[in-house]
Amino acid sequence: MDTVIVTGGASGIGAAIARLATEQGLRAVVWDLSPGGMIVDVRSREAVEAALAEVGPARYLVNNAGPASSSALPFADGVAGTVGTVELVTSAWLATDPPDGAAVVNVASVAGNLVGTDSAWYCAGKAAIAGYTRHLATRIAPRVRVNAVAPGFVDTPRMAGFGDTPLGRSLLDRNPMGRAGRPEDVAAAVLFLLSPAAAYVNGVLLPVDGGWTVSQ
Ligand SMILES: NC(=O)c1ccc[n+]([C@@H]2O[C@H](COP(=O)([O-])OP(=O)(O)OC[C@H]3O[C@@H](n4cnc5c(N)ncnc54)[C@H](O)[C@@H]3O)[C@@H](O)[C@H]2O)c1
Repeated sequence: MDTVIVTGGASGIGAAIARLATEQGLRAVVWDLSPGGMIVDVRSREAVEAALAEVGPARYLVNNAGPASSSALPFADGVAGTVGTVELVTSAWLATDPPDGAAVVNVASVAGNLVGTDSAWYCAGKAAIAGYTRHLATRIAPRVRVNAVAPGFVDTPRMAGFGDTPLGRSLLDRNPMGRAGRPEDVAAAVLFLLSPAAAYVNGVLLPVDGGWTVSQ
């Protein structure tokens, strides 16, 4: 049974990814600060390396964990928590020499790459995830494919109540699908990008936003 590591997999989008992966016959290993899997802080190299040794060979990696854009973080800390952690986890995982047919999906955002939002570090960090994804895709394929998803507004615990705010309502009003994204919408895109069905898809940033960004 192939293993997928899902960072931030105890809640929201990550939890939906882990559920769908399990339904599709993968062994889903969740790393999170909260219980629901292994307690692993992706900001800690020591914790990540110890967890990788415990998990054993993992063909797939989903870098989903990251601080909420509403967190009051200094710019450098926010960027480090958003994209520095993705580089740390991916480098440590690559050092384990993942099996053939390996694939990574990074969870970026429409923020930074397609729209600007309030948080400077969030926009910068998420845009950097797309750049790091392209770097990897051109350097480690065909051994490993690397892609990213860019969710729009997805109804998860960190966004609770946002849809009822004036900004949330205006976003939903302009979404061609007429609703917020569900964690399962993003999970389906992630599992597609990991799967052999995406064997020739490498280096993309796939918006999963109901067409919101193209409707602006
Ligand atoms: N919800 C949205 O609208 C939305 C939109 C675009 C992108 N995203 C991105 O999707 C990802 C998941 O967001 P969500 O909405 O599901 O959030 P969420 O808060 O429901 O879940 C995030 C999980 O990540 C964990 N986490 C945070 N920091 C961690 C760390 N250092 N180490 C390990 N685990 C950590 C949290 O404990 C939490 O369980 C994030 O990268 C977020 O930026 C979300």
